[in-house]
Amino acid sequence: MKKLLTSLAICAAAVQVAKADVGMWIPSLIGKNIDEMQRLGLKLSAEDIYSINHESLKDAVVIFGGGCTGEIVSEDGLLLTNHHCGFDYIQSHSSVEHNYLANGFWAMTRADELPNKDLSIYLLNYIEDVTDSILAGTDTIASAERYKALIAERKNNLIKRNSDDKFQKAEVEDFYGGNQYLLFVYTEFRDVRLVGAPPSEIGKFGGDTDNWVWPRHTGDFSIFRIYADKDNNPAEYAADNVPYHPKKHLTISTKGVQEGDFAMVLGYPGSTNLYAPSCDIEDVQNSYNPQMVEIRTAKLEVMNRHQAKSEKVNIQYAAKNAHTSNAWKKWQGEVKGLKKTDALQKKRDFEAELCHKSAICDTLLNEYEKYYQASNTSETNVVWGYWSEIVRRGGVEILEAPYEYWGSDESKAVKPEVSLKDFDYNLSVEMAGEVWNVYCKNIARKYWPVSMLKWKGTPQEYMRKMYQKSAFTDSVKMAKLLSGKNWQKKLRNDPAYKFVDEMFAVRNALRKEMGKVERPAVINNFERKYIKAMREAYPDSIFPADANFTMRISYGNVAGYEADDAVRYNYYTTLDGIIEKNRTGNPDYTVPQRLIDLYKQKAFAPYADAKDGKLHTAFVSTCHTTGGNSGSPVLNANGELIGLNFDRAWNGVMSDMSYDASICRNITLDIRYLLFIVDKYAGAEHLIKEMLK
Ligand code: ARG
Ligand code: GLU
Repeated sequence: MKKLLTSLAICAAAVQVAKADVGMWIPSLIGKNIDEMQRLGLKLSAEDIYSINHESLKDAVVIFGGGCTGEIVSEDGLLLTNHHCGFDYIQSHSSVEHNYLANGFWAMTRADELPNKDLSIYLLNYIEDVTDSILAGTDTIASAERYKALIAERKNNLIKRNSDDKFQKAEVEDFYGGNQYLLFVYTEFRDVRLVGAPPSEIGKFGGDTDNWVWPRHTGDFSIFRIYADKDNNPAEYAADNVPYHPKKHLTISTKGVQEGDFAMVLGYPGSTNLYAPSCDIEDVQNSYNPQMVEIRTAKLEVMNRHQAKSEKVNIQYAAKNAHTSNAWKKWQGEVKGLKKTDALQKKRDFEAELCHKSAICDTLLNEYEKYYQASNTSETNVVWGYWSEIVRRGGVEILEAPYEYWGSDESKAVKPEVSLKDFDYNLSVEMAGEVWNVYCKNIARKYWPVSMLKWKGTPQEYMRKMYQKSAFTDSVKMAKLLSGKNWQKKLRNDPAYKFVDEMFAVRNALRKEMGKVERPAVINNFERKYIKAMREAYPDSIFPADANFTMRISYGNVAGYEADDAVRYNYYTTLDGIIEKNRTGNPDYTVPQRLIDLYKQKAFAPYADAKDGKLHTAFVSTCHTTGGNSGSPVLNANGELIGLNFDRAWNGVMSDMSYDASICRNITLDIRYLLFIVDKYAGAEHLIKEMLK
C-alpha cells in the first residue's frame, strides 16, 4: 500500500512541477522551455522572443501605469491595453460635457490625443543574472537579519549603479525564494497620450456580473500613444514631443484562432504563491478566504442596497463597489477551484513525495508547520486582513484622513487632501457598523481596541456614535477642525482619530505577540531552502518562478473546458452573445444602440471569422496568468498579436497557488473585435491603417 501511494504521489508531483501550461517563465531564460513550446506549435526561436542583440518581441511589451501591461502595435508608438487599465485616465478627461467614459473617446488627429499627467510606461532594455554578486559569501551568515541586510545593500548598490536620475530605472528582483537574482533595466516614458476608448457599455460590458466569468464579451481595450522628444528619446510631456518610434512593434493577425492553437502571453504578472506549503493552502481554503469574503459581503450588501435606492449614491460608490467586489469574487472562486481540484490533497501528496527524496524537506516542513501553529498564523492572518478592511480599505470611510495623519511628524504634518465627494453618510455609517460587527464577531477580544472592550452597546451603535461625534463626515466641520493654531490637538481629540490610534495599538500588540514565538533558525529563508530542496530532488524538471511583476512568458493552447460535470464551455464567444445578454435586461448588459444596429446589418467584414462568419469577441486558453497580466499581448505561433489578455475564468483563479490545466483559463479579447469597434463603430479608420500597415 505504501508503495502504491508513493507512485501515485510521484504522478501528482510530476503534474505539479512539469506541466506544460503551468508557469510564468523568465524571457531571458526561455531557452529551457523552447523545445516544449515548439512541440506545442511555436514557430519562433528563443531569440525571437527575447534578445539583447537584435530586436525581439520583448521590445514591444511595456509596463503600463502602476500594474498593467501594454503592447506597441505601430511604428509610431501606438499602444494597446485594457479599458480597465486605462479607466482612470479616461475618467480624468471626462466631464459632464465630454463624458468619455460613457460615450467613448477617439482622437481623429494626433493633435487630439490627450496627455496624462501621472501615466508612465516602461520598456525593458535587458535582464542580467546577478545572483553570484548578490549571494557571494552569504552561505556562512547565520543571522537572518544580517543576511537580509547584506542582500538589501547589494541590491541597492546594483540598482543605483544601473539607474540614472532621468529615464533609466533599474530593479533587482529575487526569484525562487532568493535562490536567484535578476537585474532589470528599463526606460521610462512619461509622455503617454490617450488615443481611443470605447464607451463603457462596450469596454466594461458585463460589469461586475461577468467579472471573472467565462463566457465573456467585454470589449476591454483602450488605446494610447508613446511620445518622445525629437531625437526619439524619452522626455517629460511637451506639446511638441513627437510619436515614439519603437525598436519593434507587434504585427496583428486577423486570422483568428482555432481550438488547440498555440498561444502565449507576454506581460507583467504581479504575484503568485506556487510553492505554498499545504498548511498555507489549507488556511486560504478553510479560514482566510471565507472570512475575508464574509467581511466584504457585509460591505457589499450595504453598498448594493443604498446604491439601488439613489442614482447619486450609485455613481458615488460605483468604483468603490467594483473594487470591493473584484477580490471578493476572486477569493470565492479560489476556494471553489482549490476544492474542486483537490489541491490540498495533491499538495500533501507532493510533499510526501518530496520528503521521500529530500532529507531536508521533512525538517523544513515540520518546523514550518509547527511555527505556523505556535505563532497562530492562521488567526493572525485574518486579524491583519480585517485590520486593513476596517482602517485602510474603506470599511470605515471616515478613518481615511485620520489614518493619513497618524504617526506623521506633527510639526511637519501636511494636511492630506480629503474629498467627501464620493461619500454618503447614511451608507457609510451603516457599512461601518456592519463591518465592525463582523470584526467583533470573528476576531478574539484580545485584538479589540480598548474602547470597544468597555463599550456596552452593539458594534453598530459604537460606529453610529463615532460618526455622530467625528468631524470627518462633513467637509465644513472637517475644514474647521483642521484650521487654526491648535488643529493638531483638535485632531487628536476627534473620535475617528482616536479609533485609528487604538487600532494601531492593536497592531503593535499583535506584532509583539507574534514576536514571542521564536522562529526556528532552520526555517529562516524557508522558501529559499524549500525550493532548493525541490530543485535538487527533481534535477530534470524546470520549475516556474513565482510572479513578481517582472516580464514573463506563459504559454499553452487555445482550449474550451469542462467547468463542472456536464458543463462544457466553448473556447470563444461572439457578438451574438452580447445581444443575448442585452435582452436579459440586466443593466450590466446595456449596449449602445449603434452596436445593435451594426449587429443587425451583419457589417462584420473584414473582421468576421472565416469559418462561421460571426464576429468573435473573446477566447480562452491555458496560459498561466495573474493580476498584472491585464492588457498583455496574446500571441500566436508566429508571434503575431491575436488578442489582449484581461481576466481569468472564475473557478480556475486558484492558479495563483495551484494551477490545474483542466479548469484554469485566461480570458482574451479577440483582436478582431477590437479592430471592428475601432473601424466600424468609431470610424477611426486612420488607426486601423496604422495598426494593419
Ligand atoms: N477581474 C479583472 C481583474 O482582476 C477585471 C477587474 C475590473 N473589472 C470589473 N468588472 N471590476 O483585474
Ligand atoms: N484583471 C486582471 C488584471 O488586472 C487580470 C486577471 C487575472 O488576475 O488574471 O491584471
